[in-house]
This record gives sequence, structure tokens and C-alpha cells, in this order.
Amino acid sequence: MQRNILITGGAGFIGSHVVRRLVHQYPNDQIINIDALTYAGNLMSLQDIQMLPNYTFVKADITDEQFILSIFEKYQITHVVHLAAESHVDRSIHDPLSFVKTNVIGTANLLNAARIVWKDNFGNKKFYHISTDEVFGSLGEQGMFSESTPYNPHSPYSASKASSDHLVRAYFDTYGLPVVISNCSNNYGSHQFPEKLIPLVVNNIVTRKNIPIYGAGNNVRDWLWVEDHARAIDLILSEGKLGETYCIGGNNEWKNIDLVKLICTLTDELLGRENGDSISLIQHVTDRLGHDQRYAIDATKLENELAWKPTQDFPQALKETIQWYLNNQDWVNAVTSGEYQKFYSLNYK
Ligand code: NAD
Ligand code: TYD
Repeated sequence: MQRNILITGGAGFIGSHVVRRLVHQYPNDQIINIDALTYAGNLMSLQDIQMLPNYTFVKADITDEQFILSIFEKYQITHVVHLAAESHVDRSIHDPLSFVKTNVIGTANLLNAARIVWKDNFGNKKFYHISTDEVFGSLGEQGMFSESTPYNPHSPYSASKASSDHLVRAYFDTYGLPVVISNCSNNYGSHQFPEKLIPLVVNNIVTRKNIPIYGAGNNVRDWLWVEDHARAIDLILSEGKLGETYCIGGNNEWKNIDLVKLICTLTDELLGRENGDSISLIQHVTDRLGHDQRYAIDATKLENELAWKPTQDFPQALKETIQWYLNNQDWVNAVTSGEYQKFYSLNYK
């Protein structure tokens, strides 16, 4: 059966990797990418696949009720991979309402369009919602998040993602909408907007700007290569059980300060700068409000049920990621002009 797969947020970081993977893997499926092209969405990231016959891009805002309904009808959508979101914690602290609008109302709007257009004929349909481990809150030194961890979000971003996850489950319980959810840890790789830690640090090293570390830098994140995430999404879209949640992680925990020092060393090496040059740019700044201490994921369910495992060799994959940013300064310059500068001066006063 041909799938008509609606990908939301396909011009963003993870979305662009998912779109590229699916158009190449499934030439007999149609991939319809909708994206509002906010500051975080960039069609430059998809130039290599834009002419493929099984790919269509439509500029659309997921909160636009009528337009979203018309897209479901026009393209006879059978599957949804929902990635579109406001995704940056610091922005959610400055402007929480736009997170509620896109992440909560936008998700409700998509669920409702699927319910209306698919009517009660849910056979061979699937609505796959991409979420984050941040909905689970913050860990101490021990333990890991899993599918049964209670929700306890702390930032407006994670609270809006938690709300959207609840709506997805409510549509499963109430209407039987065929849904599946995954909650993933921090991704790294090419095409990530340089407001997030890794590309921000690389960009500041290149331009010799201070590298801001929130607080002491002892917060811990689990880092997953974006291509491993895209492969997990592909698998869950095809084989994930309806009504289920899957946790996805890299089994790769790093303290922020240690990761930033490693990025400094690798970037200096790639730029031919003296070892230790960039470490002097590190500056400890005021901590993020409500800063979660530690995230870690137990991905056993995904490994056992769908035979998925992260393949990354960190720090080799990190080095290749840094090299991508160094090789693609046009892309970096395009996304860091204008609006980025305004956000940067607001967030790092
Ligand atoms: P991103 O910010 O890079 O991209 C988001 C995309 O959504 C952009 O292309 C943007 O233009 C689009 N968008 C925003 N508002 C929209 C709207 N109203 N209508 C249509 N499109 C809109 O985000 P990302 O890092 O690629 O994250 C994608 C998804 O994965 C998000 O749902 C996020 O919560 C989740 N996630 C991200 C990470 C991570 O480490 N980046 C980890 C786990 C989960
Ligand atoms: P980020 O990439 O924003 O992802 P998230 O907050 O979703 O985990 O940040 C990763 C970690 O790096 C987080 O603990 C906050 C920290 N951080 C800094 O110390 N300085 C920065 O300038 C940024 C953007 C993040």
C-alpha cells in the first residue's frame, strides 16, 4: 500500500533528516512536508531532495484549522509524522505563549484534522507524535527515564510538549485514533539551528565570541546522533504499536562543561588553531531559570521490540558534525543573520 506521509516541521533540524531519509528509502510513498518556515525552518537544508518526484513542500502553519484540513484532503494523507514545534527552552522562557500556541493548539489541530478526515476509517492510518524526554522533568545523579516515568515538566517548552503528548493519548483513548509517541533525548548533527548548545559553541569558536555556559556547567544531557533518531522514527512509523510510547536515547551522557571543552579541542584541531585556544573563550553566565539537572534515557523497550540501537561513535560523530558546520558557513551565515542577532542579545545580556 502506498503511504501518503505528512511530515510537519520538515524544514527544521530533525525534520530535514527525517524527510531526506524517507524520500530516499520509500520511492513509492509520497512525502508531503509542511512547515511555517519560522526562524528555525530553512529550505536550504533540503535543496538536495527538492526535485524528487515523491516529495512535496507546502508552506503551512499547523494552527491554521481550515488549511490543515484541506491538506489532509488534497493529499489523502494516510500517515503523519508530527515534528513541528517551537523547540528552544530559552525562547520558551522569554515567550511562553507562542509555545502554547504551536505545540499545544497546533498539535490539537492536527489530531482533529486526522479524526475528521479519517472519520472512523482508521485502518492503515497512523499519527506519530515526536516528543522529548524533557516532559519527564529532571533526574538526580542516579536513574533513567523510561516509558513509565511520570510526567513532571519544568519549562514552558517541556510543559507545552507534555500537554501535546496528553492530547495525543486522549485522542487514542477517546476516539481510537491510531497514534504512537516517542520521547527522545538531545540530538546533535548537521543542520541544527545555532541557538542549541553544540552549534552555538562551534559558531562562537569560529567567530571568536565568548562561549556562554549556564551556571557551573554541571548539568548533564544524553546526546543522540540525529541520523540514529531518524532511523528510530522510520522504524516506529512502520512497526511501532498503536497507543504505545517509545523512549529513544543515545546512552551517551555528558556534563555540559566537559562536552564544551571537547568541542573546543576538536574545533581547534580542525581549524588548525593551537590546542587550548578556544577554551579561554568559555564564560560562566547566569544559570537558565528552572534548569533541569540531568536527563538520561533507558531505551530498552525500543531495543527489545524493534531491534533499534544507537550506532554513533562519539566523539567521532561529534567531530564530523563540527566539520559539517565549518564546511557550511553559508548555511550558518544565512540562519544567524537578522532575527538570530536579536534573540542572542536578549538571551545573553
Ligand atoms: P526545530 O526548531 O529545528 O524545527 C522546528 C520546525 O517546525 C521548523 O522548521 C519550524 O519552521 C517549524 N514550525 C514551527 N512552528 C510551526 C508552525 N506553527 N507550523 C508549522 N511549522 C512550524 O526543532 P527540532 O530540533 O528539529 O525538533 C523537532 C521536534 O523534535 C520537536 O517537536 C521537538 O520537540 C522534538 N525533539 C527535539 C529534540 C532535539 O534535541 N532537537 C529532542 C527530542 C525531541
Ligand atoms: P540546549 O541545546 O538548549 O538543549 P536542552 O536545554 O533542550 O537540553 O542546551 C543543552 C544544555 O546546555 C542545557 O543544559 C543548557 C546548556 N546551555 C548552556 O550552558 N549555554 C548555552 O548557551 C546553551 C544554549 C545551553
